[in-house]
Amino acid sequence: MPRLSVLSHQLTSAAVHLEQVTKTYPDGPNTVSALDAVTLSIEPGSFTTVMGPSGSGKSTFLHCASGLDLPTRGRVVVGGVELSGMSADTLTRFRREHVGFVFQGFNLISHLTVSENIELPITLAGLRLDEHRMRDVLVSVGLTGLADRLPGELSGGQAQRVAIARALVAGPDVIFADEPTGALDAATADQILRLFRSAVQDLGQTVVMVTHDPRAAAFTDRVLFLADGRFRGELRGPTVEAISARLIELGR
Ligand SMILES: Nc1ncnc2c1ncn2[C@@H]1O[C@H](COP(=O)(O)OP(=O)(O)OP(=O)(O)O)[C@@H](O)[C@H]1O
Ligand SMILES: [Mg+2]
Repeated sequence: MPRLSVLSHQLTSAAVHLEQVTKTYPDGPNTVSALDAVTLSIEPGSFTTVMGPSGSGKSTFLHCASGLDLPTRGRVVVGGVELSGMSADTLTRFRREHVGFVFQGFNLISHLTVSENIELPITLAGLRLDEHRMRDVLVSVGLTGLADRLPGELSGGQAQRVAIARALVAGPDVIFADEPTGALDAATADQILRLFRSAVQDLGQTVVMVTHDPRAAAFTDRVLFLADGRFRGELRGPTVEAISARLIELGR
C-alpha cells in the first residue's frame, strides 16, 4: 500500500496524531529540543499513559498534542482536524469544544468557587450547567458538599479533583491530564483512574495522562515512553514490572 494513503487514514481515524513534531525553546545562544521529531497516533476510545524521566518532554507533548501550544515543526491532528496553521481564536474555540486539560499545577481560579471553577468551560462557551449535571459531576469526583468552597480552602487532593471535574464537564473528545494523581493518596488516585476508565469505556472519550507512577500506568491500555524529547517505544497491556524495567532502561 502506498505510504501516503496509510498516513491519511491514520490522520483521520486517530483521536490524536503527531507527525514529526518538534518543539524547541531558546536556551541562551543555543536551542533546547523539548520534543524531537515525535511521530505517533492515539486511538479513539483508549486510555494512554505518557512516561519518561523528568525533563523528557511529557508536559510539552501534552501541550502540543492538545493545541495548548503549537509545535515549532511538524503537524498535530486531533479528531481529523489539523491544528497547525489555525489562528489563536480558532484554536481556542476548537480546544473548548473538543479538549479537556488537567494541568500539572491544577490552575484553578482562586476567586471562583469549586462549582464555578468546574463550570468554567461551559460558562466560557456561553452556556449554563444544569443543576443535576453539576450534582452528578461533584458526586463522581467525590466533592459533594464542597461546591461553595474556594480553592484556597481545599486540600491538594480536593483541588486536583476540581481540576479533573473541570476537564470532564463539557464531555470533550479527548482529555489530557498532566500527573492527575500525583497529589493524591492511593484510594483517591484509584477513584480518579476509575473515573477516567469509565469516561473511556462508557462515553467513548479518549484519555491521555502523564504519570510517574507505574501502578497508575499499569491501569491504562498503553504506555508511551519519552526520553530527551524523543519517542522511545511503547507497551500495550502494560504491567507494573514491564513498565518499571523500561523506565530503568530510560534512566529515570
Ligand atoms: N517554556 C520553556 N522554556 C524553555 N525551556 C522549556 C520550557 N518548557 C519546557 N522547557 C524545557 O523542555 C524540556 C522538557 O520539559 P517538560 O516540561 O516537557 O518535561 P517533563 O517531562 O514534563 O518534566 P517533569 O516530569 O519534570 O514534569 C526541559 O528540558 C525543560 O527545561
Ligand atoms: Mg511535566
